[in-house]
Amino acid sequence: MAMAKERDHHHPNKDKKLLISLICNFSTELKLIFIALLVIFTLATLLPLIPSSSFSLSSSDFRFCISRFSPALPVNITSTSVTENTTEHTVLKNGVIKRTFNGHGSAAYNFVTMSAYRGGVNSFAVIGLSSKPLHVYGHPTYLCEWVPHSPTQNPVSTPGLKILTDWGYGRIYTTVVINCTFPSLVTVSGNLILHATTGDPSLNLTNSIPVLSEPQNSVDFSLYTSTKKQYDYLYCGSSLYGDLSPQRVREWLAYHARFFGERSHFVLHDAGGIHGDVFEVLRPWVEMGRVTVHDIRDQERFDGYYHNQFMVVNDCLHRYRFMAKWIFFFDVDEFMYVPEGEGTVKEVMESLEGYSQFTIEQMPMSSRICYSGDGPARTYRKWGFEKMAYRDVKKVPRRDRKYAVQPQNVFATGVHMSQNLQGKTYHKAESKVRYFHYHGSISQRREPCRHLFNDSRVVFENNPYVLDTTIRDVGLAVKTFEMRTIGDRLIRTRQ
Ligand SMILES: *[C@@H]1O[C@H](CO)[C@@H](O)[C@H](O)[C@H]1NC(C)=O
Ligand SMILES: *[C@@H]1O[C@H](CO)[C@@H](O)[C@H](O)[C@H]1NC(C)=O
Ligand SMILES: *[C@@H]1O[C@H](CO)[C@@H](O)[C@H](O)[C@H]1NC(C)=O
Ligand SMILES: *[C@@H]1O[C@H](CO)[C@@H](O)[C@H](O)[C@H]1NC(C)=O
Ligand SMILES: *[C@@H]1O[C@H](CO)[C@@H](O)[C@H](O)[C@H]1NC(C)=O
Repeated sequence: MAMAKERDHHHPNKDKKLLISLICNFSTELKLIFIALLVIFTLATLLPLIPSSSFSLSSSDFRFCISRFSPALPVNITSTSVTENTTEHTVLKNGVIKRTFNGHGSAAYNFVTMSAYRGGVNSFAVIGLSSKPLHVYGHPTYLCEWVPHSPTQNPVSTPGLKILTDWGYGRIYTTVVINCTFPSLVTVSGNLILHATTGDPSLNLTNSIPVLSEPQNSVDFSLYTSTKKQYDYLYCGSSLYGDLSPQRVREWLAYHARFFGERSHFVLHDAGGIHGDVFEVLRPWVEMGRVTVHDIRDQERFDGYYHNQFMVVNDCLHRYRFMAKWIFFFDVDEFMYVPEGEGTVKEVMESLEGYSQFTIEQMPMSSRICYSGDGPARTYRKWGFEKMAYRDVKKVPRRDRKYAVQPQNVFATGVHMSQNLQGKTYHKAESKVRYFHYHGSISQRREPCRHLFNDSRVVFENNPYVLDTTIRDVGLAVKTFEMRTIGDRLIRTRQ
């Protein structure tokens, strides 16, 4: 999947929490052993003997643990609504014991709403999360209802078409996009209600969720038919998290603001990655109206695939669907480019207008070995994409791709491509547009260059690389562009 995957594959924090709760929940007979261990750990923490590692147990984790050990009082079990003889069983005539199973309470939400958007005169998209096992093993269904504000008009209903976009990558939650297309025009003001059933026949449980309210005259219906768009190119970023390097983000933004031109816009999603220093490099662009940041940190409560990136990109698709000619989906360690001789970005994109979607080939770059053609001292002062100039040329069967779509034709989207669209998809655009991928460069806050080389071909750790200065060569132009556009406000940015 996205760059996201390798970045924190192990969720060290979650593993740690799990371990703690395992320890806490373990048979109380082992209490003493753990208390002894705790003493040892505490000593070890006081005397700074243990080398720091990502797996460190903080004292607060253990305090939590102690509080779970100490009280001898029974824990309150709050589920007291025992109304039936739930554990009874009956013996059938043939001697077989008939067992019964009764559900109580609920473990994961039936539906978690993020957003709902109108997509035309009779159609809407609702974006959210839903319990993954429910979708894998159950049969949840959706009904969309439009309830006009005026009491003289009758509500109308239509079955909601659910689209699961995450290719089976969900965890406790999976991303659901529900397409509500009504058989007739829905143009009077009103509320959209999503009726979400779990599909459990014995429960008949339906959640009726108001997802969208449209006041009188609040919708400009010409938006859905107009060919004039506010932006030519819109970037929808995936969930950003981790300790991102402000300097790398600065470089990425300056590069792409120049690459895509004035009629472009960047939408970034902060799942904790846009910390204070990163926001400072975004600020000038946000103030100019070139960048929009969405704070999506609250989705962390719902355990989905990599900070719920599938939900986030679908929200972005539908939110900006009628504002942009093209929407691009790629990551902030990836740099788009148009090979020399192919013309401008505008010309290339016009030549692809017959396609609803095209996928983009990856050029993998090393983010550890650098080109020292300027001499080592000057190399360190260069921007990341100027010095990380060695391209990995090892033969592999397939590399991840990224993509761009004409959003009006797309109903839901993924991370590597959309599979819910009308019109054609083009997979052979590599002569027109490609991207350089500096894997792992963005999530480290230090000088990326581990080793310097000077040659046009290098074998490093048994892997062949060639010098590729395509992106490096525009370094000066990008810096000049940044200076002209936002001045020298970011000149003191650190790694
Ligand atoms: C547990 O139950 C006792 C007695 O019913 C009650 O006084 C107490 O407030 C409860 N504690 C919690 C945390 O619910
Ligand atoms: C529960 O068990 C009692 C006694 O066995 C029986 O009279 C009653 O009908 C049962 N209730 C239900 C809901 O099955
Ligand atoms: C819902 O699906 C229909 C038919 O595929 C499509 O025309 C419409 O644009 C979709 N609506 C949204 C909001 O995606
Ligand atoms: C489920 O509930 C709805 C609304 O309360 C009701 O109309 C319907 O008959 C119920 N269905 C079943 C199978 O109980
Ligand atoms: C790299 O090559 C240049 C010119 O060929 C040379 O001047 C420089 O010393 C070399 N640097 C290193 C680190 O080998």
